[in-house]
Amino acid sequence: MVELKLKSNYQEISNSSARLIAKKMIRTTNPVIGLPTGKTPEGAYDRMGQYYREGLLDFSEVTTFNLDEYYPIKKEDPKSFYQYMNEKLYSQVNLKRDRTHIPDGSIPHSKVNLHCKRYEKKIDKAGGVDLMVLGIGENGHIGFNEPGTELHTTTHLAKLSKETMEKNFSSLENTPSHAITMGLQTIMQSKEILLLATGERKAGAVEKALLGPVTKDCPASVLQLHPNVTFILDNGAAKNIDFA
Ligand code: GLP
Repeated sequence: MVELKLKSNYQEISNSSARLIAKKMIRTTNPVIGLPTGKTPEGAYDRMGQYYREGLLDFSEVTTFNLDEYYPIKKEDPKSFYQYMNEKLYSQVNLKRDRTHIPDGSIPHSKVNLHCKRYEKKIDKAGGVDLMVLGIGENGHIGFNEPGTELHTTTHLAKLSKETMEKNFSSLENTPSHAITMGLQTIMQSKEILLLATGERKAGAVEKALLGPVTKDCPASVLQLHPNVTFILDNGAAKNIDFA
């Protein structure tokens, strides 16, 4: 069952999603939150920083697991999701660094499988993800689970589609061709899922995810099988959805 929330602009999406994340943090003992990167969640991270500065939210008992990281990439690389998270959230709130987790894009290739297994174990050990926050790619990807990804996947090394690489990097020279990403099964094991989408560019993917068949061709469509999912959309992203 997917619940839909329609918002009139990006600011409202950001406010609403930050409120839902804050509520989950306040109501859960030792909350575990799954986090995305990309343009879409930036406003929500901004609000969460604001809540913290105003003394409304305490992150000291919060554990986070990021969805994905490019591979190969160094932590210091400005394109890395590690740098993104540092800038947008970690440096803005009182998260304990040993409670934040991002797949390591700098480990040797021979150790990637082991690293992925350990990432899954860490999620299990933390008690599973209480709230997984997602964006969505224009091709329906979630995390870096591109079209064609099997539904039973756990954290794994994924090849980026040409389309995703072109969208994410201004030039394709010296850019990572892969990513380590939570799999679709990892995402589906979260207790609750929140997906944010904004702008008409996402309307096709949102339509397929919500109304299309559950298929590998649109990885986000698997969310139809989850018992507790909310999509927060603006008018552009919801363009093809009839709310009547
Ligand atoms: C990226 C990330 C996804 C993100 C998506 C949309 O490639 N791996 O987690 O949700 O693309 O990004 P944006 O919010 O910038 O549109």
